[in-house]
Amino acid sequence: MSKSVRALKACIIGGGVIGGGWAARFLLHGWDVSVYDPHPEASRRINEVLDNARVAAPALADVPMRAEGNLSFAATLKEAVSGVSWIQESVPENLMLKHQVFAEVQAHAPNTAIIGSSTSGFKPSDLQQGARAPRRILVAHPFNPVYLLPLVEVVPGPDMSSKTRARACEVLTSIGMKPLVIRKEIDAHVADRLLESMWREALWLVNDDIATTGEIDDAIRYGFGLRWAQMGVFESYRLAGGEAGMAHFLEHFGPALEWPWSKLTNVPELTDELVEKIAEQSDAQSAHLSVRELERIRDRNLVGLLRSLKELDWAAGALLNEHDRRLAARQPDIPVKALDGSGPLRLLELSVLPAWIDYNGHMTEFRYVQVFSDTSDRLLLMMGMDSDYVASGRSYYTAETHITHLDETSVNAPLYSTSQVLMADAKRLHVFHRLHAAEDDRLLASAEAMYLHVDRESGRVCEAGPQIQAKAKAIANAHAQLPRPEAAGRYVGQR
Ligand SMILES: NC(=O)c1ccc[n+]([C@@H]2O[C@H](COP(=O)([O-])OP(=O)(O)OC[C@H]3O[C@@H](n4cnc5c(N)ncnc54)[C@H](O)[C@@H]3O)[C@@H](O)[C@H]2O)c1
Repeated sequence: MSKSVRALKACIIGGGVIGGGWAARFLLHGWDVSVYDPHPEASRRINEVLDNARVAAPALADVPMRAEGNLSFAATLKEAVSGVSWIQESVPENLMLKHQVFAEVQAHAPNTAIIGSSTSGFKPSDLQQGARAPRRILVAHPFNPVYLLPLVEVVPGPDMSSKTRARACEVLTSIGMKPLVIRKEIDAHVADRLLESMWREALWLVNDDIATTGEIDDAIRYGFGLRWAQMGVFESYRLAGGEAGMAHFLEHFGPALEWPWSKLTNVPELTDELVEKIAEQSDAQSAHLSVRELERIRDRNLVGLLRSLKELDWAAGALLNEHDRRLAARQPDIPVKALDGSGPLRLLELSVLPAWIDYNGHMTEFRYVQVFSDTSDRLLLMMGMDSDYVASGRSYYTAETHITHLDETSVNAPLYSTSQVLMADAKRLHVFHRLHAAEDDRLLASAEAMYLHVDRESGRVCEAGPQIQAKAKAIANAHAQLPRPEAAGRYVGQR
């Protein structure tokens, strides 16, 4: 993958836990990054974070990521901020230090650059004090690890223009984050206030010998943590209120807040107005879905989360694996299903995701089928077989495929696929796909396939629509000039 346009440039000031994560997120989304951190080990630390991020972050993508940007380390702040459009301050949580950094940054940075501060606690008005251009400074509070967790709390400050605010959100969204704009500035924003309240209670529980730290973590990760990860607190409690919903839940469990169960005695009085307000906001958030629909969504999400945890053999996932092993000890071996399968428009650009790797450390067999199937779908889309066409009751069905494995590929390797149309007539499409390593064009596998055009209702083969036929024949005519692939028409075992 080559860069066709000049990359945008971000500057990261302070390359610790959070700055390193920001550097990785920007770089992996194609931005050039300059880092300023006087610590002698800054470069080693950032490169180590980047190594981890290069393995983990692409696993979230099912489309090719942009080519990685260039990383540089600057000797001065002045050098670091040259030509940048985003500056992310991640120095230690010390207001005086942050003020010093902003003063020097604003003396040298382009005046169009936005300065995001990673501060966990300070309000934008605290940060802006004494600044030359206060309205360019906002809070952009991320979560560790920044290259994986999408949330970033954006606190714009009272005088920030809606244009700057929108631009900030646009930048953060473009690097895969979820900017949550906080309505009013407040110490510690939103998420850390929530975390702090639970943290305080957890410390009390340890202090009073009610539970150990491990037991408290188990109380979260085997239960409500899984719920929180996909529905948060209000939507989860909505379901806990059953069909009667949020108002009922507040009526039912509200009094317990007054007893109180926890050490946090300061709770708002649940007046009728407050109950109505929360119920209304909850309705606006979720009432477009019935409780049953929400339950199904919740369940699907939970299955997805648990499967991911299982793959990583972590927390509740490790428990599931252990349970599997116990069951396997009692059951006969389940036979492994053999996926024996029997070409140049460049159609797909992709990389081998970590989840595609088998026990030999290579891309596992069924992913080749998926890649060739996706290649066929892209070709058919190019020919005009879009969702409207399929909805009209016609489609191509796969009649035959023959995949040949020629070389190995491993995790994160960039790949591309091509397709050569060997023959197209009114009812049939005969193609030869090839899968290549992007780095050296090595041929990794090929797939020969025959597709038949089918009337979906009758299940019978029929002629494709005239536009599709015309496009298919045009591609086939162009490809008739190409040498016929040597492997086309081979039977299994013939090389
Ligand atoms: N750690 C977290 O989980 C977390 C989460 C979200 C936000 N934050 C916020 O991010 C900021 C940084 O926290 P961290 O955990 O990465 O701290 P850290 O100690 O890991 O990193 C701070 C880095 O800043 C560097 N530094 C110190 N003075 C500097 C200067 N004058 N110019 C440039 N660099 C300088 C240090 O060498 C260090 O590498 C804080 O404001 C913190 O509140 C932290």
